[in-house]
Amino acid sequence: MRLLATGRAVRFTWSKRSGTISRAKLWINVNIQYQQRPQSTAAHTAAPTFKSPVKAPALEVDGKLYSVDDWTNVPASILSFLPRKLHLQPSHPVSITRQVIESNFPSPTYTHYNHLHPIVSVAQNFDSLGFPQDHPGRSRSDTYYLNKDTVLRTHTSAHEAEIFRDNKSEGYTISADVYRRDAIDRSHYPVFHQMEGARMWDRRKVLGGDVAKAVWKDLELLPKHNLEVEDPNPTIHPERNPLQAEHHTTEEAEAIAAHLKKSLEGVVVELFSRARNAAAAAGNADANAIEPLRVRWVEAYFPFTSPSWELEVFWQGDWLEILGCGVTKQELYINAGVPHKLGWAFGIGLERVAMLLYSIPDIRLFWSNDPRFLSQFSTLEKISTYVPFSKYPACYKDVSFWLRSSSSSAGGGSKANAQDFHENDVMEIVRDVGGDLVEDVRLTDEFTHPASGRKSFCYRINYRSLERTLTNEETNQLHDDVRKSLVEKLGVELR
Ligand code: DAH
Repeated sequence: MRLLATGRAVRFTWSKRSGTISRAKLWINVNIQYQQRPQSTAAHTAAPTFKSPVKAPALEVDGKLYSVDDWTNVPASILSFLPRKLHLQPSHPVSITRQVIESNFPSPTYTHYNHLHPIVSVAQNFDSLGFPQDHPGRSRSDTYYLNKDTVLRTHTSAHEAEIFRDNKSEGYTISADVYRRDAIDRSHYPVFHQMEGARMWDRRKVLGGDVAKAVWKDLELLPKHNLEVEDPNPTIHPERNPLQAEHHTTEEAEAIAAHLKKSLEGVVVELFSRARNAAAAAGNADANAIEPLRVRWVEAYFPFTSPSWELEVFWQGDWLEILGCGVTKQELYINAGVPHKLGWAFGIGLERVAMLLYSIPDIRLFWSNDPRFLSQFSTLEKISTYVPFSKYPACYKDVSFWLRSSSSSAGGGSKANAQDFHENDVMEIVRDVGGDLVEDVRLTDEFTHPASGRKSFCYRINYRSLERTLTNEETNQLHDDVRKSLVEKLGVELR
């Protein structure tokens, strides 16, 4: 699923029991109120029907009420992350990474938006960006819905349209927390941070109306780098990466793409030269840490850009996707009331970049309040390789269960039968119980009974604290709670 690519790299999990979040400190007001219906009067008494206004159930977040419906799937544990805002916490690696990237997009050309609220409409998150109705990103298994019209933003692009409409400056960056239901492992967490950037030109304002010329002129002003970048494909390919021919000339798209690529290459040079200096300063003799930086552009698809690309960096033996970008679809500007503008946009995952920048091995660490973690980061001038303070023992436990057969009618719509079972529901339950004490969850066995057709799954849950050794009793209790919760919430039958 293309949309989610950039963030997929960056996913995390949350915590409850780890003790890393002090619930008392959270100012968020999460309050699910189910209002009582009036007691029904006995039918045969012919009493007049009592028509009191029955309020629908509602969810209160930050003083605002959201009605609850069949789409609601956001647990209170996830809402408790809203106040954290790691991208704004001084000396936090996510915030330092944000500032390093921001420094490449200076004001007044770029306005920096860092305080946009994470609850957005489905229209903002998907419709305004041209997501088709059947795009998998819209599904309840991938996205947290407050109700059918309202979600926790899944990407910073949710704000593109409103900022285009705002029309404050030629460019902007947004940094923000974003939310996606996903797997549990060391690089995935349901809350993470992205940075979005965009730059546009105004047909009515550029000299002689020659956009391509104006863009090339601006490109000349960008800092030079001598990084060798692999870019084997043509900027425009009629099938794979088409020009928006009804809106742009080839020259315009070529110029915008060149400015986009040069700007982002500048970001990568900045980030990775800092990382390499840090590794060298730490005396890291690992050949990968000091090998020449290799970067490549690959063709991509996003519903809101064309042509589109991803940027990959060769890091410790693998090509790693760090951002998505492209020439913004003209419909976005038209719908935002600025049809004379055209330009580019990108989105980058901050935790993924921070993990590379500091060699941070586990995404859960970003949420830690442990001074042994937090004290290692200071300013953006002083990037140094993270030193693990300890590795505590892991303990894995398996859970196997049968799904209900699809013909079974017991239990109601949210219970897992063969058709509507989604692995992310298991992940959510495990996180809800185990929080940051769960390092990863993997499917180890899947089986369909030959006679009954019933399906069975086995998941291996790896419990490990980043901050202390877990006791046996504690792990057993957690696992027991996970098993109970799977039965209660998914209606599975334990094996
Ligand atoms: N929103 C995309 C994601 O989350 C990343 C992205 C791609 C942002 C292209 C953009 C863009 O602004 O133009 O994967």
